[in-house]
Amino acid sequence: MKPLIQVALDNTSLEDALKVLVKGVGDEIDIIEAGTLLLAAEGKRAVSIIRSLYPNKIIVADFKMADAANVMVPMFLDSGADLMTVICAADPATMRIANEKARSRGKNMQIELYGPWDLERAKVWYGLGIDHIIYHHSRDEAKEWGEKDIKSIKSLCEVGFKVTVTGGINPDHIKLFAGLPIYAFIGGRSIRESEDPTKEILRFKAEIDKYW
Ligand code: 5RP
Repeated sequence: MKPLIQVALDNTSLEDALKVLVKGVGDEIDIIEAGTLLLAAEGKRAVSIIRSLYPNKIIVADFKMADAANVMVPMFLDSGADLMTVICAADPATMRIANEKARSRGKNMQIELYGPWDLERAKVWYGLGIDHIIYHHSRDEAKEWGEKDIKSIKSLCEVGFKVTVTGGINPDHIKLFAGLPIYAFIGGRSIRESEDPTKEILRFKAEIDKYW
């Protein structure tokens, strides 16, 4: 399967986020992410309103949850998200509860890799039943993508994870990941801040078509 494209709506108001979607992005994109910044500003209503406008899209609630999975997971998944993120530093008990809550709704969790993690720990998450992972370069550190990332992503794919890649990604980065079984690429600023966000998605798609 070819990688999907996800737009990260890290806007600080729902009004601004919806402006991005209605410009054409909402129709062209595969996955809509209610970004961490948007959820901080607007809460779960951001998810329910996006769901009501885009009933057939995959929607991610990027809350980067750390605890209280019993409450947090139903809060976002029952608002209309298909996927929700949990930070890799969360306790295994949080991962287990989150996975149970998501699976019982026919939905999934995604583990966000920030800070320390290793493959042994990743295998434990996979054993708990969570098979989505987000390989992330933090916005604050803004590192370049390189060989070390490709090696890590490859090892996560080999465990069986569906790997999503994010952090300052634009269409020129796509070729670095050529041939890897990437689940999705997330574009945040590269799409939202582009002069023509829909055209930027088409540029992502053209690059994906070249390499997969
Ligand atoms: C920040 C995020 C962003 O949504 C993600 O990194 C994509 O944004 P950008 O492409 O602007 O880096 O999760 O915590």
